[in-house]
Amino acid sequence: MKKTLVRNGTIVTATDTFQADLLIEGEKVTAISQRMSGTADKEVDASGCYVFPGGIDAHTHLDLPFMGTFSSDDFETGTLAALHGGTTTIIDFAFQSQGRTLKEGLTEWHQKAKGKAACDYSFHLAVVDFNQKTRMEIRDLIEQEGITSFKTFMAYKGALMIDDRQMIGLMDEVKKWGGIVTVHAENGDLADSLIQMNREKGNKAPRFHALSRPEIVEAEATGRAIDIAYAGNHPLYVVHMTCEGALNRVKEASKRNQRVLVETCIQYLLLDDTYYDRPGFEGAKWVMSPPLRKPKDQEALWRSMGQGMVHVVATDHCPFCMNQKEMGKEDFSKIPNGAPGIENRMELLYSEGVEKGRISLNKFVEVNCSNPAKIFGLYPKKGTIALGSDADLVIFDPRVEHTLSKETQHMNCDYSSYEGWKVKGKVQTVLLRGTVAIENGKSCVQKGFGQFLKRKKFEGF
Ligand code: URP
Ligand code: ZN
Ligand code: ZN
Repeated sequence: MKKTLVRNGTIVTATDTFQADLLIEGEKVTAISQRMSGTADKEVDASGCYVFPGGIDAHTHLDLPFMGTFSSDDFETGTLAALHGGTTTIIDFAFQSQGRTLKEGLTEWHQKAKGKAACDYSFHLAVVDFNQKTRMEIRDLIEQEGITSFKTFMAYKGALMIDDRQMIGLMDEVKKWGGIVTVHAENGDLADSLIQMNREKGNKAPRFHALSRPEIVEAEATGRAIDIAYAGNHPLYVVHMTCEGALNRVKEASKRNQRVLVETCIQYLLLDDTYYDRPGFEGAKWVMSPPLRKPKDQEALWRSMGQGMVHVVATDHCPFCMNQKEMGKEDFSKIPNGAPGIENRMELLYSEGVEKGRISLNKFVEVNCSNPAKIFGLYPKKGTIALGSDADLVIFDPRVEHTLSKETQHMNCDYSSYEGWKVKGKVQTVLLRGTVAIENGKSCVQKGFGQFLKRKKFEGF
């Protein structure tokens, strides 16, 4: 069995920071010791570097058919970009199509990923049509297919949105078999009426996307989803939370001892709605749902993370090139929603979070690696550095400064959401299941190296 030694690094988990060497045999970590003697087939020198568990991006959309086009990263380009940024596992969203079964949606996503993914992957299942037939599929998906999380949309009426009755039915069934429901919380009817009002006024520019989805659109739906979950005593995970109003609904629920699991995305921590005021059509780069918010919302997200109320930082990576964004040149509501970020999450969160003193090193690992693994049934195989865990490791040099740009990124997108952004700290080497996947900015694994991960049931958090 191939042996690899990672020497002289500072190992960081969600709970500890310590200097040690790591021995990897085959795909697993088999020894952690202060000074490891002996030789190995490969040695990685981590002097001066942190050794983090491989990142887990719990929210991506690769090869997604959406708003009349497809997200521009497929499973090959998107997962290679993920690896470059220190993410070794993604949980993408498989979608049910209207009138079709959940299983058909899952099969379709397996076909998209198999033989293409370079990093490990799993799927959440987005349920867009919950009925008696769909209900019957849930048990098998959880117990046989290892798909233990399901997404519902409270927005995108006529395409993805389900009503409250369907959500209640889904939550009941999913809990019965040990899964968890995740929710895109925006009031679809309210957003649609504001979109219509803006279109009638002749408001075409990208910034009207954000103005049609104000904070209350998200806060109301978040509160409603939380109340529905409370009524049935169900676990709930809210995806891509952006704002103080929504966080306040979570805080309110905590007064009745309800625990809501909260994900935010790196863009909501770092970018604000002034990006929509960029000249011409440039604001379209950041058209996503929910939209970018205000500095006070960023502050609320950072502080809530510190308080343990934001559990996961993901990306909602859903890139579109500018010619795709231009589908909405004359109508902001036709701009495909989404932006790139899968490659930037860990470096940005380190630089803006740890380096600027907003979060600790251990919190960084918690929200990037351990919490998504625990919530979504991958722990301790993934999400930590421990004996018997997969040797998914990121050798991270905190001294290296660099600048993010579309010129150097690996994501298949002709812009960067963070063009010119100066970052302190760089992913140097990435190991996936004991194999060096990235070294000195070069990928060492091919498409197809990634494995599908069947996930365990939700065990509480
Ligand atoms: O704008 C976004 N978020 N696009 C991806 C789909 C979704 O809602 O997550
Ligand atoms: Zn969403
Ligand atoms: Zn999404």
